[in-house]
Amino acid sequence: MTPLQSTFMVSSSGKDSWPNHDLPEVVVVGRSNVGKSSFINALTNRKKLAYVGNTPGKTQLLNFFDIDGNWVLVDVPGYGYAKLSKAQLQKLGVMMDEYFNERENIACVVALVDARHAPSQDDLDMIDYFKQTGRRVLVAATKVDKVPKTKRPKALKVISQALQIPVKSIFPVSSTEKTGFEAIYQAIQETLNQDQKEEQAV
Ligand code: GTP
Ligand code: MG
Repeated sequence: MTPLQSTFMVSSSGKDSWPNHDLPEVVVVGRSNVGKSSFINALTNRKKLAYVGNTPGKTQLLNFFDIDGNWVLVDVPGYGYAKLSKAQLQKLGVMMDEYFNERENIACVVALVDARHAPSQDDLDMIDYFKQTGRRVLVAATKVDKVPKTKRPKALKVISQALQIPVKSIFPVSSTEKTGFEAIYQAIQETLNQDQKEEQAV
């Protein structure tokens, strides 16, 4: 099972234009060009819901997508892209900090890392940051189609060791081959359900 209906809601450069709703938000983070926007398209089974580019730094705003009227996926700019001007980078930084610090709807972070490489220092810092803020973090390894099948277990093990999370908690995905999305979708659903149960228990 994957989402049935996904709809673009709004692009936002800050607080004033965040959508006003009570739905949980699932935000997809990762290095620029790691495949965040492609991940969103493959997960929702849509070709052009989120804008995909060949050059890093394509996504420059927060893009909100309503999923089945139940939750909201958020596509954000990538980190680690140095070719933007200092002023542009600073603007993105402020926009992201504001969102992560002040947005109450964030239920879960899906952190993407490239299946071909050991996580970069930026990846490690980013994931640590989210763990420290107490956010639930799911990890997906993108572009797994570029790793020969026989080398995939090793590649996932390297990522698992670097991030210090079990191999079974890393979801390999390929947006071009559309593989791995049912499993990560299931994990997102479980995370959202856990949140709901906790709220009911309060
Ligand atoms: P920014 O918005 O710049 O931060 O990038 P992004 O993380 O949203 O990446 P995007 O989805 O735009 O993809 C970047 C490039 O990687 C594009 O050329 C995609 O076609 C390619 N790509 C993304 N996912 C995959 C994948 O699973 N396999 C392969 N082979 N290529 C992929
Ligand atoms: Mg993008």
